[in-house]
Amino acid sequence: ETIDCTGYTCLPGAVDMHVHMRGGVQAGKEDWRTGTTSAVAGGVTVVVDQPNTVPPITTPELLRARVREAEERAVCGFAVNAAVVPDADLAGMCRAGAMAFGETFAAPSSYGEGLDAETLRGLFDRIHALEGLVTIHAEEVSGPAPATLADHDRARSGAGEARAVQKIAGLAPAGMQLHFCHLSTAASVRAARGTVEVTPHHLFLSHDNFDPDDTRARVNPPLRDEKTRRDLWSCWDRIDVVASDHAPHTVPEKSVPFETAPSGIPGVETMVPLLMAAVQSGRITLASVIEKTSWKPAAILGIPHAGFEPGDRADYALYPDEITRIDASRLHTKCGWSPFEGLEAVFPEEVIVGGTRAYAHGDLREERPVWYPGRGYLPL
Ligand code: NCD
Repeated sequence: ETIDCTGYTCLPGAVDMHVHMRGGVQAGKEDWRTGTTSAVAGGVTVVVDQPNTVPPITTPELLRARVREAEERAVCGFAVNAAVVPDADLAGMCRAGAMAFGETFAAPSSYGEGLDAETLRGLFDRIHALEGLVTIHAEEVSGPAPATLADHDRARSGAGEARAVQKIAGLAPAGMQLHFCHLSTAASVRAARGTVEVTPHHLFLSHDNFDPDDTRARVNPPLRDEKTRRDLWSCWDRIDVVASDHAPHTVPEKSVPFETAPSGIPGVETMVPLLMAAVQSGRITLASVIEKTSWKPAAILGIPHAGFEPGDRADYALYPDEITRIDASRLHTKCGWSPFEGLEAVFPEEVIVGGTRAYAHGDLREERPVWYPGRGYLPL
């Protein structure tokens, strides 16, 4: 099949190294088919799933079952991370093809209480011995259940995030591969050691843009105020990866009082389109978008890189010049809403996965060019 790229900007497929594809008992929120369709429609050709599933991925059996679920339903490349809790079979999950460990704790939000320094140090030593990559969700949590977005910002403050980053960086053995997930302030980015990830929502949204108790904007780490959001852009050159932290919840689940609403917002389909609009407006370079959404995450994960050299993976997305506005009703996520509604974006018109045209002009093709680049992958 010949693909005519005339008139388009052709980017390597994005590697979104932080998504929650749900599925299993959480399939009402999203499943591997809808989540990866949403990914492809946004120019993402590899997703890395986080292990806070129900139940969390703590054994090789659960990891293999997760991979099988993805193989049956995904429409793009994927990999699966292993949860890090003291009784998890870390070596077994490594052998079963876990891509990375975490998003790891120091985060009470996903794994109960978080872990104390000694336990963390011990887990880091074990992961280092396995030559594993650890991806870290760093935060401090204080106070009662928040009633507003500003309360939530205070309860999981930017200052607490920066302290947690520093503490964790100090606990990891020298030479260990560390990756900090979804850092939300300039101070945290500067405090990090290893590689740094930020999300599109911390770059493009602040809590000043929403009603004080709008549960749809509730996410961990919280949206910050407008000044903090703008400051985050000042670190653009230090940021290694932009990843979506795609964390869909349904409208009914979000339609409860703020104090009890789940945290998390969808974002895998709008990540590159928002960045491409920022390229068009001259805020950032196209090269920096390719670096932070494609080649850096691929390099961090140690997976084949989509690109333009002979032998590179043929994962591409073709972007037009026209800027449009995000319309949640046209997105492919099962959750059916977006906090980015109305923002400027450039969506890909065609997406090629593994040399096959997987998506064209709003429609997914029949083929499912799934591939699974898990570390140490053994055939199932
Ligand atoms: C995550 C989710 O829903 O899986 N939500 C989020 O706000 N990032 C879990 C979490 O990290 O709290």
